[in-house]
Amino acid sequence: MSGLLACKYALEKGYRPIVFEADRAIGGIWAHTIESTRLQTPREGYSFSDFPWPPDATDEFPDHNQVMDYFEAYARRFDLKRHIKFNKRVLDIDYVGVSEDKILSWDLWSGTGEALNPSGWWQIRVQDTNLGSIEIYEVGFVILCVGHFSGVPNVPDFPVKEGPEMFGGDVIHAMDYSNMDDVSAARFVKGKRVTVVGFQKSALDIAAECARANGVEKPCTMICRTPSWFVPNYKAMGVSVKKFYLSRFSELFVHKPGEGTMLSLLATKWMFSKVMESHLRWKFPLKKYDMVPDQSFSEAASACRTPMLPNNFYNMVEEGSIVLKRSKGFKFCEKGVIVDGDEAPIEADLVIFATGYKGDQKLRDIFKSTTFQKALMGTSTAVTPLYRECIHPRIPQLAIIGFLESPSSLFPAEMRCKWLSHLLGGGFKLPSVKSMEAEVAKWERYIRRYSGEGCRWSCVGTLHIWFNDKLCKDMGWSHNRKKGFLSDWLSPYGPADYAEPSTV
Ligand SMILES: Cc1cc2nc3c(=O)[nH]c(=O)nc-3n(C[C@H](O)[C@H](O)[C@H](O)COP(=O)(O)OP(=O)(O)OC[C@H]3O[C@@H](n4cnc5c(N)ncnc54)[C@H](O)[C@@H]3O)c2cc1C
Ligand SMILES: NC(=O)c1ccc[n+]([C@@H]2O[C@H](COP(=O)([O-])OP(=O)(O)OC[C@H]3O[C@@H](n4cnc5c(N)ncnc54)[C@H](OP(=O)(O)O)[C@@H]3O)[C@@H](O)[C@H]2O)c1
Repeated sequence: MSGLLACKYALEKGYRPIVFEADRAIGGIWAHTIESTRLQTPREGYSFSDFPWPPDATDEFPDHNQVMDYFEAYARRFDLKRHIKFNKRVLDIDYVGVSEDKILSWDLWSGTGEALNPSGWWQIRVQDTNLGSIEIYEVGFVILCVGHFSGVPNVPDFPVKEGPEMFGGDVIHAMDYSNMDDVSAARFVKGKRVTVVGFQKSALDIAAECARANGVEKPCTMICRTPSWFVPNYKAMGVSVKKFYLSRFSELFVHKPGEGTMLSLLATKWMFSKVMESHLRWKFPLKKYDMVPDQSFSEAASACRTPMLPNNFYNMVEEGSIVLKRSKGFKFCEKGVIVDGDEAPIEADLVIFATGYKGDQKLRDIFKSTTFQKALMGTSTAVTPLYRECIHPRIPQLAIIGFLESPSSLFPAEMRCKWLSHLLGGGFKLPSVKSMEAEVAKWERYIRRYSGEGCRWSCVGTLHIWFNDKLCKDMGWSHNRKKGFLSDWLSPYGPADYAEPSTV
């Protein structure tokens, strides 16, 4: 998705992009999902600004095949595939022409405050995944779209004699399960006692699939380190949640980076948070299963940690086909896993780590320069420190798309691509490196404060419009995208509002 967008917007500015894709087809994560995967955000949020979903896609939450069809149609509409080199894996990239010391002394990004600097360029080492042969390309600008939630699985470490090597059954990661075709995946879990580790979206979906396959005879156990708030269907008491978080008016109630303490007192989104928490506690047996999160709903939403619950999830818990086990830690033994504080194991034939991905590590490892690798780690080890969530102030002639979380990640990715294409087209100059770093630091502090210390990524879920206003200002666009004062303040904002430079 990010690569298609980057390609489309680079073409629009007259560039001749080369897209290297390690896979044999487009789609990224959508080309390798489990059977039940659907969009977990309403489709109108997960849509290209100038290419709506086809009229026959009427599901509010299209399934993965429909998402793939939509991406294919987009690639066809803008003739993108002829720019993609499939089965080509980028091994590493190296900035040459200017010494690292010189780069670090620059007051302006890339030395000029513009996208390009004639003295420097990137060398890209690309491997053909079929032939193994390696080619070197030289380009003036790189856009990394390697994906935050794919490629490098996060597999927990264990002390000696407590890890998977002690277990008599199979251990896989959710990524391996997603890479199986639907028939093989169903056959793989059928009749097995499965334990799923994790309690976010992959874990919930996989557990629901296993429970449907094996019922109460062979229940699926979930090991949950941190219970999480969730959204049942983007509706609360029958009202679409987007009304609460996607309008300019609703963002008034969200404290923003750089705003004073007085405004933080006025920002009463905790009220909405409490309403959601009460609603979810009333509707689902969270207390009964010790699954009431410690975090507030608003903190979870600010961290993009509110997955959509699979249909009938708590019914499966109630009937016993899913067993919830809350525990901070566990170890393996011959028969299964033993959670902290228990002596008897949870017996299992298969353990699935739905423990997320190490996208940040994948991103860093693509740089040959350790200086750039370290720069991407930022002041904390978590959030990728990017100005406008797109470029690193100290890494020249390079942008990163797709490392910004949101309930609908396509929308911010497309907005960054629009912004980037303006920068590439010479539409505006960037401020000094120091001011960009100060802005990035401000955002990091904000994330720590509102998304929780443990937040591992940058999430713009509750501040879409505020962010987009900044991008519009940079691009010289009007930030009021709707016709009429009331509409601008009260209607939900979405991708289509930004299709053209000016809509009013
Ligand atoms: C199962 C799942 C479901 C999701 N559902 C939603 C959802 O409902 N709503 C939502 O907003 N977000 C969702 N997400 C988040 C999701 O990551 C984004 O929506 C989005 O599709 C990511 O697109 P991307 O192009 O940035 O990354 P990816 O889809 O990960 O694509 C990255 C691409 O880069 C290629 N690549 C990686 N490294 C290299 C390399 N070194 N050389 C060449 N090519 C390389 C990969 O092969 C891949 O094609 C989901 C994520 C997962 C894992
Ligand atoms: N549309 C869809 O249907 C769909 C499907 C799947 C995924 N997604 C998206 O893909 C992204 C990745 O989701 P994900 O669920 O794969 O990963 P994730 O959000 O990173 O969640 C990882 C889970 O594993 C747990 N975990 C990590 N390490 C652990 C350990 N050592 N011991 C115990 N538990 C551990 C985490 O617990 P803690 O919270 O305690 O860290 C968390 O519950 C998200 O954006 C998600 O929304 C979407």
